[in-house]
Amino acid sequence: MVKTDFPKYSENNYGKVARITNDVYRQALTSWQVPAINKHIGDITGKVFLDIGAGDIILGENLDQIGIPEKFYVQDLSKPSLETGLQRIASAGIDTSIFHALVSDDFNFDQIEPAEVDAAFSNSLFSHLSINSILLCLRNLRPKMKTGTSYFSSMIVLPDNRETLEYDWSYIPGIKAVSSAIKDPFHYSKNSIKNLQNYETGFEVKEIHDYGHPFQKLVEFKCL
Ligand SMILES: C[S@@+](CC[C@H](N)C(=O)[O-])C[C@H]1O[C@@H](n2cnc3c(N)ncnc32)[C@H](O)[C@@H]1O
Repeated sequence: MVKTDFPKYSENNYGKVARITNDVYRQALTSWQVPAINKHIGDITGKVFLDIGAGDIILGENLDQIGIPEKFYVQDLSKPSLETGLQRIASAGIDTSIFHALVSDDFNFDQIEPAEVDAAFSNSLFSHLSINSILLCLRNLRPKMKTGTSYFSSMIVLPDNRETLEYDWSYIPGIKAVSSAIKDPFHYSKNSIKNLQNYETGFEVKEIHDYGHPFQKLVEFKCL
């Protein structure tokens, strides 16, 4: 008999386990996400902003620091994660009417108008995705972004250019993580990341920026 009750999405575990953060972890996540947005995107007041793989929406409670966008799209494959975030934001007294939740496991951005998005961001999404999924995300995203704007997405970048099967980051104080070329959490060499622009996604890899995360970098994909 064919088994049909398995979860649809299986590249990582987030289809089964919702991403729900506690106060302490949210503080750490905020400590690198907010400065990165301030530095690379600037004030998002009045803009259309998209957070892909938003989880329980860390940035939602930090609008006083990043600006209040006209529209704040939050996308994730996990509906419970987004709903938890929206409830938390509402209970902090923040107006949630600017938030638009998009749920899909195949980067379906149909609800966004063509060329509507001024800036897009992801924290630790591509660290859970294979190149095929990254390319799907970029290809579906590109038509929704204005030409000349950028998508900033954090990734695990190997410190040298060797294509290592596994990389142990535990030499960094407080970190216990092993990343992999073939399974979640995925790492990539700088070379592989630069080569993403050869797949005709409509983005160039503009720069691999330093990021406050202990072992991720912030990759800038600029719309061509
Ligand atoms: C490490 S968490 C980061 C969440 C959030 N960006 C943060 O900083 O707290 C990775 C997120 O990516 C989401 N995710 C993983 N694969 C995805 C996919 N194919 N499509 C959409 N979201 C995905 C997960 O559900 C999870 O919320």
